Amino acid sequence: MAILFDSTSRLFTLTTAHSMYQMKADRYGVLLHTWFGMKGSAFDYSYRIAYADRGFSGNPYDAGDDRTYSLDALPLEFPAYGSGDYRAAALKVRYPDGTSACDLRYLKHEIREGKYSLPGLPALYDAPDQEQQAHETPAPAGCRCGSRSDTLIITLEDTRRMFYVHLYYGVMEDLDIITRAVCVENHSEDDIYLENIQSVCVDYLHGEYDLHTFYGRHVKERNYQRSPLMHGSQSVGSTRGTSSHQYNPFLILSDRDTTEDTGNCYGFSFLYSGDFLGNAELDQYNQTRLLLGIHPDNFCYCVKPAERFYAPEAALAYSAQGLGRLSRIFHQAYRTHLCRGKWTAKRRPVLLNDWEGVYFDFDGDKLIQMARDAADLGIELFVMDDGWFGKRDLDVSGLGDWTVNEKKLGCTLKELSDQIHGLGLQFGIWFEPEGINEDSDLYREHPDWAFTVPGKQPTRSRLQLLLDFSREDVREYIFSHICQVLDSARIEYLKWDLNRSLADLYSASLPAKRQGEVMHRYVLGLYDMLEKLTQRYPDMLIEGCSGGGGRFDAGMLYYTPQIWCSDDTDAIERLSIQYGTSFGYPVSTMGSHVSHCPNEQTRRITPLNTRATVAMSGTFGYELDVNKMTEDEKTIVKAQIREFKEYYDLIQYGDYYRLTDPDTADAYHGWEFAAEDGSEALLCIVALQIHPNGPGRWMCLKGLNADSIYTVNDEEYPGDVLMNGGLLLPTAAEEYESFRIHIVECPAV
Ligand code: GLA
Repeated sequence: MAILFDSTSRLFTLTTAHSMYQMKADRYGVLLHTWFGMKGSAFDYSYRIAYADRGFSGNPYDAGDDRTYSLDALPLEFPAYGSGDYRAAALKVRYPDGTSACDLRYLKHEIREGKYSLPGLPALYDAPDQEQQAHETPAPAGCRCGSRSDTLIITLEDTRRMFYVHLYYGVMEDLDIITRAVCVENHSEDDIYLENIQSVCVDYLHGEYDLHTFYGRHVKERNYQRSPLMHGSQSVGSTRGTSSHQYNPFLILSDRDTTEDTGNCYGFSFLYSGDFLGNAELDQYNQTRLLLGIHPDNFCYCVKPAERFYAPEAALAYSAQGLGRLSRIFHQAYRTHLCRGKWTAKRRPVLLNDWEGVYFDFDGDKLIQMARDAADLGIELFVMDDGWFGKRDLDVSGLGDWTVNEKKLGCTLKELSDQIHGLGLQFGIWFEPEGINEDSDLYREHPDWAFTVPGKQPTRSRLQLLLDFSREDVREYIFSHICQVLDSARIEYLKWDLNRSLADLYSASLPAKRQGEVMHRYVLGLYDMLEKLTQRYPDMLIEGCSGGGGRFDAGMLYYTPQIWCSDDTDAIERLSIQYGTSFGYPVSTMGSHVSHCPNEQTRRITPLNTRATVAMSGTFGYELDVNKMTEDEKTIVKAQIREFKEYYDLIQYGDYYRLTDPDTADAYHGWEFAAEDGSEALLCIVALQIHPNGPGRWMCLKGLNADSIYTVNDEEYPGDVLMNGGLLLPTAAEEYESFRIHIVECPAV
């Protein structure tokens, strides 16, 4: 059992393969956080807490005249607002009398075998997905992981005896992951209001840390930023109703000297797709507190008597071997125990998406022509993006009217799909279920279904509004219309897009005092619909999207095993975007396509080979008008697709290594995929700068077997030499040239 409880000292010690997490209910019943880090003896780590008279940091009443006992100075597992801890709190409740001071004490706990799940919310699961097992025999090595998990639920009660706080811990031993979630249960006879509930709080007694975050904007998501924590708070978050392009709900704390391969670091990933806040605070005693949860702005949730509220799950991991190892822990866990369904282990098709090729300018014949060429190239799935429904020849109208525009297609959807299948391709289709244009039949019929505040003109974005997905009647209507389309033809893939941030929140279905629930209920509504969709169409591959990567988070991955990474398809810009994304998410989740040149977003020209090198490090596909390609280009593309299929398992299930940072790389940027057993590797290099008469360039490989001999371009090298001395790289002849170098272990003699 990975959960130990010492009843004498009331000490909880949770262990995974390499990490340990410890808490203690102290003599007053306050739940202290005593350790998160390197696995070691289940010793009581509370010995590290120094007690001293803390001026201006109050003492709980039951501590009597002990001025050294202050919640403001102690490492706490779940600090509540208003009882003498003045740091950022994990919980703020408004009691029926309007007050908020809250004091939580340990009541009981329960240990269960297996990993808990959460009603209506995404959560990591421990048993290999039954359904996935049924579809695939056998799954590739990096895709199998019979994780063993246990659950600990610690119940705290507020000293006014109105509610319980159940703290959930999932201890996923083999995956090296600890999950956390929180449930508040009202056992009083009055309503209580949650004004802030964070899913994670971790207090570090000492240490100097760097905070690693991922910031961006539309067409430039998840740029990597590392900064030292200073006294005060440093936070990232979203109040846009989605996890957002601007900040990602994945954060890392590390020691100052932590590198890719060495040093302590701690990853915090939020399985939630709406507003979030990640906050790190360095306090007066040089202690660090990390909080992660739903953003408290726009949040106020009423919990009625006997009701429970569940705060979403967060996944935590610790690595003593630097950032690379930390990422690989998340990659493995998310690939195998977050993504669900048959596509977890089944090979995903190489696709052609028509968007950048034709935008809204197509008819059925044009699509068939594209599909014909695509089939010839070895592409397996044809995706018809935006523009096939309602009145939708531009992005200003039609959203919400999910009826096929047969006039534009010149045929029914079934006829189109049949023809595409006749060419040997699968067929996919784009939806934006949450969106609505004012110029649509749906809006004319149900204007109150869109988010607008009575008496105020709404904020438009891309000339559209959003539907109130917190309402079941709205969801049911959209769901039934989507199903009608999906049932009318053979459709194997669905792209679920969302093209604006939320604003003007007001739900006609809720009274004034409950409007603070709308943002969260919207996300629950989204999850409810995605769950129904995945249940009804278990074989369909669903790709998430929000104007590219505006909702690229672990919550969405529970429903959509891949997400379009960015609307920026420029291969060089994508290096930074995919690099940043790789810290928290596996390449098997990153939608990535080869597009035409000059690039639509940057006008940059890059070699076709380089565009493929970058797109292959994701869920590979093309997004251009194949009919406009030259014969030479077609020959190259055919070879690229063959090559990708050959390396598929290595790329999608192998260990991913960041070798350089594209924003600071010295001329050549590199990354690598290595088989789990070190038997082969694929080194990917992009020349960012060309220097005539320049110095030689080497890249040190990782993840090989030091004692083995490897073949690289017909030369033989020992594994330790490739990892320590590095591989001398070919000289690039032009800017942005790239190389894919296959390294294969020779059979032992
Ligand atoms: C968003 C998506 C694109 C494309 C368009 C269609 O921007 O990210 O890939 O689907 O919408 O309108």
